[in-house]
Formats: sequence, structure tokens, C-alpha cells
Amino acid sequence: MLPPGFVWGASTAAYQVEGAAHLEGRRDSIWDVFCRVPGAVVDEHDGEVATDSYFRYAEDVAAARALNLGAYRFSASWARVRPDGGPVNRAGVDYYSRLVDALLEAGIAPWLTLYHWDLPQAIEEQGGWAERSTAYRFVDYAATLHDALGDRVRVWTTLNEPWCSAFLGYGNGQHAPGRRDARAAMAAVHHLLLAHGLATTELRRQDATATLAISLNLDVADPADPADPGDVDAARRIDGQWNRLFLDPLFRGEYPADVLAQTAHLGLTDHVRDGDLAAIAAPFDVLGVNYYHGQAVSHRPPPTPLHGLPSLARPVTSPLPAPEGIHRVPRGLPQTAMGWEVQPEGLTRLLLRLQEEYTGPAGVAMAVTETGAAYDDVVGPDGRVDDPERRAFLAAHVGAVQDAVASGADVRGFFVWSLLDNFEWAWGYSRRFGLVHVDYATQQRTLKTSGEWFAQVAAQGGLPW
Ligand code: NOJ
Repeated sequence: MLPPGFVWGASTAAYQVEGAAHLEGRRDSIWDVFCRVPGAVVDEHDGEVATDSYFRYAEDVAAARALNLGAYRFSASWARVRPDGGPVNRAGVDYYSRLVDALLEAGIAPWLTLYHWDLPQAIEEQGGWAERSTAYRFVDYAATLHDALGDRVRVWTTLNEPWCSAFLGYGNGQHAPGRRDARAAMAAVHHLLLAHGLATTELRRQDATATLAISLNLDVADPADPADPGDVDAARRIDGQWNRLFLDPLFRGEYPADVLAQTAHLGLTDHVRDGDLAAIAAPFDVLGVNYYHGQAVSHRPPPTPLHGLPSLARPVTSPLPAPEGIHRVPRGLPQTAMGWEVQPEGLTRLLLRLQEEYTGPAGVAMAVTETGAAYDDVVGPDGRVDDPERRAFLAAHVGAVQDAVASGADVRGFFVWSLLDNFEWAWGYSRRFGLVHVDYATQQRTLKTSGEWFAQVAAQGGLPW
């Protein structure tokens, strides 16, 4: 069981659920534009309608209520709140205000993420995250939303998974804006972190008691052969680019020397100005940990590409030169429909490592802000969606958190990805992660059996059995 006060929640993100992509003042984000590129997204899917949550948010809140959730983690769309990065769109702000009120009425705490990948296209056309000015514009956007919602939203997350924004968006082009430029990716790393730090300072100035957070996708890379120094080094390099490149500046105010040395030609430090690293290390309250899988890596080549997106039409390339020559080695573990290995004990190790090396010394709490699994769910003849594999996945990961907490990790919450099936980025609607099934033809929502089970876990505060 987890301690009283532990937060049970589920997550979504604006572009993945809202729809209404060109209604009521919203303008193109980079994802709207990326979805129009032939071959970029499976079956040319897009977020034009998604799960229609802009209009059906009350149903989503009711689903969260049925799941006994204490919190709902969602993101706001910059392209809806400040379309084109310009003046405030009142209709957009009002939408989030209605959603927040509905959550509070249902007794569910809103956890708002400011940026979950949907940059206004107009800002991308001025250079996007490769440009320093985007960090300052992000602070303005954060302040706009805080002015409107700060009286009711008490948990503010700046960024979701900046690794993905930088490396999948600007490095290998698997995500919007689809750029393939390793130098731009490194510039984006710095400007995203700067945006986080400056917004954190601004939000703290406006609101001394808000809980401020950032969510990172952190990896547990093990050497395929621990006795092979090449494999050990491969794991170190992955850890550097995936984890330490973000954790070290956030918690220690410095970029990791080994990553800087290996990527010197990509010019990350060209973007660092006096005071930036102190700004990035602004104190915050909660490290959000998004964890889906671990991986074993080797310097020797087996065939699987490094990232978990092996069969997209676009070729999978490594986002940076540094991990060239690093290969993911299947370990024979069960896999989800994403082809990701199910490795719950990696989450325990990750949380304990973070506690010891980063969050503990800084007095920062943690929350698992995303974990979950895609499976090929089917609606049965009786209308039920029985998904025992997802239930087993979640049980194992709740157990992994319980183990970490029992060993001293300060973890305060567990959020399932996702509340409901939704637009899974480059995979379109072909991958389902929800506790709630969505029939995209009718938008009918059906609680899956994993959702029925999770509602009990949330009500009882953990796994009693
Ligand atoms: C992480 C991202 O934050 C979320 O948007 C995505 O859908 C899940 N991982 C599953 O891939």
C-alpha cells in the first residue's frame, strides 16, 4: 500500500484528445502541420477531432470520477491559448477554465502541463525551439494561463518530455516539426530547459505556494553484457543523452561533461549565455517521471533500432551522432503493442537512483506522471473491453513504485497513461493506451476491465493483494 495522500491519477495531452483543432480561435500547431506531411503519421491520421474532448470534456471528467482519480493531468494547447503565439484567445482560455471547474466540482485536482509538444506553427516558422526567443515567449504564455487559472490550478508542470521535443522533433524528424538537424536538436535542448527555468521563476514569483514540476522521460539502459566494456560504455552514453543531459542542468546547474565532449561539434554550449544555467536550475517541487520500458544496449549490432518506433514509413535514425553504434538488444521480455519491453523493476531502480543522486539531495519529490501500455484491445460481443495484459502491466508498475517507496524513494503520485485511447503521435489512432476505450466512429467511451481494476486500486490506495 502507498501512504495516505498518495495521488492516483491519469494523464492526457491537448493535441492527443481535444480535437476542435481549427475551431473557436485555435490555429495550427506544429503537429497540425506535421500531420499533413505524407507518410509522417500512420494512415495520415491527425488531431482534427481526436477524442473530441474539447466538446466532451464533461464525459472525460465523469470517467476520471468513475476511476476514483484524485488528479487529472492534462495539457493546455499554446496554439489555442495564444494562437500564432500572439494575443490571448479568450475562447481557448475559457475552455480550460470550464475543464478546471468541472474537475474541481468532481473533487479531482487539475495537474496542468503547459507544453506537451504542440508549439504554435507561427513560432516554429520563426525558428521554433532552435531559437532562444521561444523560451521568452513560453514565459509569456505560462503567465497568461496562470493569470486565468492560478486561483484554481495548484500543480503546474512546465514541459513534458523535452527529450522528445528536441531529439524526435528536431533531431530525427519522427515527431513535429520533423526537422533532421542534430545541431538544431541541441539548441532545442538548451532553449527548452531555459524555458522551463524562466517559467518556473516567473510562476514562483506570481504564486509562492504553487507546486511546480517538470516531467521527463527517463531511461534505464543496461549493458547487454555487463562484462563487455563496450556495452558498459554504450549504456553510459545513452544515460548521458537521455537522462543526465536534462537532470544535471536541472539539479546541478551544469551540463554533463562527457555528453558535452562527445557532442562538442553540435554546439550546445554556443547557446549558453551567462546566467542561463542558474536560471535552468531554479528550484522546483516535483520531478515527474515518465517510464514505459528499459532497454539493454550493446556496441555490437543486432537488428533492432534504438527507439521504439521500428516500423514507421520514415526511416528510424539515431537523433545524435553520439549514440551511433549503439544497439538495442531484445532480452526476451514480454512486449507491448509498441514493441517496448515490459520491465517494471527498471522503474524501481530508476526511482531509487533519482532519489539518491538528484531529487533527494535537492529536497524534490517525485511522481510517476506517466506509465502505461498499448495493447490491441477489442470490444467483445457483450460490449466489454477485457484487457488483462494492461491490468498486469499496471499492477507490476504500481508494485514497482511500492517497492521504491518502501526503500526510501519519495514518490507522491502515480498517473496512468492514459485516461482514454487517443492520438498516439506518429502512430495515429493505431495504438490504444487508455483505461477507457474510445470508438472513434461514435466517440463512445467504455471503461476497460483494467479501468475497473484501477478504480479499486485508487480507492484502496495501492495493491493490497
Ligand atoms: C509519452 C508522451 O508524453 C505521451 O504523449 C505519449 O502518448 C506516451 N508517451 C505513449 O507513447
